[in-house]
Amino acid sequence: MTQEAHVTQGPLTTEAGAPVADNQNSETAGVGGPVLVQDQLLLEKLAHFNRERIPERVVHARGAGAYGTFTVTADVTPYTRAAFLSEVGKETEVFLRFSTVAGNLGAADAVRDPRGFALKFYTEEGNYDLVGNNTPVFFIRDAIKFPDFIHTQKRDPYTGSQEADNVWDFWGLSPESTHQVTWLFGDRGIPASYRHMNGYGSHTYQWNNAAGEVFWVKYHFKTDQGIKNLTQGEANRIAGEDPDSHQRDLRQSIERGEFPSWTVQVQIMPAADAAGYRFNPFDLTKVWPHEDYPPIEIGRLELNRNPQNVFAEVEQSIFSPAHFVPGIGPSPDKMLQGRLFAYGDAHRYRVGINADHLPVNRPHATEARTNSRDGFLYDGRHGGAKNYEPNSFGGPQQTGRALWQATSADGPTGNHPTPVHAEDDDFVQAGTLYRLMPEEEKERLVAGLAGAIAPVSREEIAERAIGNFRKADADFGKRLEAAVQALRG
Ligand code: HEM
Repeated sequence: MTQEAHVTQGPLTTEAGAPVADNQNSETAGVGGPVLVQDQLLLEKLAHFNRERIPERVVHARGAGAYGTFTVTADVTPYTRAAFLSEVGKETEVFLRFSTVAGNLGAADAVRDPRGFALKFYTEEGNYDLVGNNTPVFFIRDAIKFPDFIHTQKRDPYTGSQEADNVWDFWGLSPESTHQVTWLFGDRGIPASYRHMNGYGSHTYQWNNAAGEVFWVKYHFKTDQGIKNLTQGEANRIAGEDPDSHQRDLRQSIERGEFPSWTVQVQIMPAADAAGYRFNPFDLTKVWPHEDYPPIEIGRLELNRNPQNVFAEVEQSIFSPAHFVPGIGPSPDKMLQGRLFAYGDAHRYRVGINADHLPVNRPHATEARTNSRDGFLYDGRHGGAKNYEPNSFGGPQQTGRALWQATSADGPTGNHPTPVHAEDDDFVQAGTLYRLMPEEEKERLVAGLAGAIAPVSREEIAERAIGNFRKADADFGKRLEAAVQALRG
């Protein structure tokens, strides 16, 4: 769909609706004299303009979005009672925002960085948000490390630039990042476009069925366009020549009627398997190998409608991993638990307390019936209705049934590290990933890593970072060390 015409009939007006006589010349005392304070149009325009921007997202600031449809293609009622997944053929409207992570709002798209894959399902039981990435794993496994990690990816307080020292210092001292860093510097680290990459829920989530049985699931969105990536050289050129490359590609493909789609799969683990599984199933730095839990196809996702106003629908869109619907819930993944707080808090700060009233954010297939009221930019939607519960005036009532099934926890409270299962260590899956790569990809991986590590100013930081890859695979470490030495001279 191309841009819809928004022609407004009638004269230009002020914000209060009064007709504007002259929008070209401000009002002065005499010809060539000073401008008058009584020129309210001028003051209103300048004041509104000064407030046009809201704070950008602290991460994933740069992105593009589109609406579309999710269609169920397999019976998953044995695993979840979520209404939008209740029958084959059922369709649900969605909004998907893609993004890069580290760059600011105006940064280039063609960079080596994970891509955000934030999906909002407008279901009849409320909005379900799956806020994932194009990678199945992440750099860290505990939310308490996230602000430190992002500080190393963003601008240094002294230089104002991203610094190799900070990046590699943190990754070297956080060996659990080795798997994700190996992935990031592999060929999939720079997708050719948002259409040519997969999406992943990444975390493990809970599904629960009508009988109250619990399953742990991981979501995969496999691109139907095929995976296409850029080499570092191609990306460097495109980032310079066309910083909006991904954003434009997405919009134009939808305008042409080439609707991008993804085949949706889940890995399903019965709850009883979790304790004895060879990897901790709630550790975000690990995948579940497909031979253990084969992905099964459950749906198709298609994007088919562009937003008409990027600010209103993309910049002001909000996604929260805490937005669940009946039949779906969190797992004990410590990263996910931290995210359940972080996003709502970000939205209240960035967009405001009534962000969920905006057209892109509010439920489309049901209505929100809450007693939350008032605050900045409240539109009075509840009229004179009572604002408490229980009440005797026919107001909305609690259902008595939680969205997700209770899970048990015991033992003393404490700052416990994530429990380690039989085959868990920080390097095992990074080593497997390296050995799976064809020789030419290994060469590009080593060259890319060496190019990134070489500028590090301190020998011990570079050596510690290389040491993590050596622990993943001896050949990987040896080749990387030689490549870094060659560059550092
Ligand atoms: C504890 C770890 C994490 C914290 C505290 C965190 C926090 C945040 C915050 C504050 C935002 C900005 C939200 C906004 O302003 O609307 C954000 C955006 C985002 N995060 Fe995270 N994040 C974490 C980990 C992750 C992980 C593991 C993933 C993917 C698996 C992820 C995917 C995203 C995406 C896709 C967005 C952009 C959402 C959008 O398009 O609006 N984050 N994150």
